[in-house]
Amino acid sequence: MKKPRSLDRIDFALDELPGEEMHEALHQFRAEGPVRPTKFLGLPAFIITGHQTLVDAFADNETFPPHRMYQASFEGAIGESFISMADPRRHSLYRKLATPAFRSRAVSRYEKEDLEPLARELVDRLTGQEEFDLVEAFTTRFPYLVISRLLGLPRDREDEFQDWAFALLRFRDDPGAAAEAREQLTAFLAPVVDDRRKNPRDDVISELVQARVDDRVLSDEEVYSHIRLLFPTGGETTHGALGNLLSLLLDSDHLWKTLCEKPSLAKAAIHETLRLETPIAVLPRLSAPVETEFCGVTLPADSWVLFAMAGANRDPSLYADPDRFDLERGVDESLTFGRGVKACPGMHLARKNMEVALQVLLERLPNIKLIDSNAAKPRRTVLRCPLALHVRATEASEGR
Ligand code: HEM
Repeated sequence: MKKPRSLDRIDFALDELPGEEMHEALHQFRAEGPVRPTKFLGLPAFIITGHQTLVDAFADNETFPPHRMYQASFEGAIGESFISMADPRRHSLYRKLATPAFRSRAVSRYEKEDLEPLARELVDRLTGQEEFDLVEAFTTRFPYLVISRLLGLPRDREDEFQDWAFALLRFRDDPGAAAEAREQLTAFLAPVVDDRRKNPRDDVISELVQARVDDRVLSDEEVYSHIRLLFPTGGETTHGALGNLLSLLLDSDHLWKTLCEKPSLAKAAIHETLRLETPIAVLPRLSAPVETEFCGVTLPADSWVLFAMAGANRDPSLYADPDRFDLERGVDESLTFGRGVKACPGMHLARKNMEVALQVLLERLPNIKLIDSNAAKPRRTVLRCPLALHVRATEASEGR
């Protein structure tokens, strides 16, 4: 086995930390103490890896104001949306009106009409191919197409919609392309938003244009920024979660087969994947703009503090044999979707996306085999997912 990297050389933003390498490091940090020094983007940072300490940190909005990181990281690309609002009253007001569409009752409605046909369409496109990459063909596409369909956008422009989303997400690497994508996306959305104001339908844009805040409707710009917010929060995360799910199932000698034989275990497999290999393995927070103290550790103003959900989710004080994939694990305390004022409003949609995708893939591609286990290892931390899932399909699974 590879020798674990020494803890003081790890940078949680810059290092890939593939597979178990990250988890071994998180176990070591947890054994050292509740809040430990580390590095993030080459800067001094702190990391929290224990379950209870992280629950306490999620509840402490004074030490860890939850909007600050998003002001620094997201606003440049997507504009102001509720995720980066500093005023708790405004945050809660805007959050309430933007999220009903993603609650559990609404989500079960989408399942048969939108999600399942879409998953089938993507698998249909693979017919006749012997080898393919499920990241390219499926996990990166499905969540964005789901967003586009729930918003009620024209289907013949879905590919462009996804390209704009990707360009916006890469705004740090290529700010010019991101600005251009934002302009094109706005030009595309403007007539749709205008139409839904006049002729509301049963879609998420219609819900947004009818919502009222402080007795007024949302402006066009507010509607656009709510839509742009869905790319990093709903698209990237679900893409990572689906990739990690397929990686764990296909890189095992029995799990894919077990699930093909018993698809009713799909929910349990998703539940356990979200604990064991969460796509937001580490959530960066910027601490308060003044010196604070947490768990007896002094945090200088504006410190990066890493909320390591991946560490909390494998905390041995809560989970027996925490590194094992266990389809019968009962405990449901994972911090995958966060806690407190920002707890993920899209968690039902995320789980439903994963469930529908997995059911369709198990049914249509039962005989696929992973051919590059190294590329399939989840890597990176803030968004953790495999680079590729190269598989070979035997005849029995092709074009069923
Ligand atoms: C497996 C997939 C997903 C994971 C792991 C995930 C995880 C999270 C986490 C940990 C947070 C809290 C962030 C914080 O405390 O700063 C969060 C917030 C959020 N998530 Fe998700 N999420 C997922 C899918 C989705 C989906 C599908 C949507 C919507 C379509 C969504 C929309 C949001 C939004 C809007 C917020 C911000 C909430 C606020 O500021 O109050 N997420 N998510």
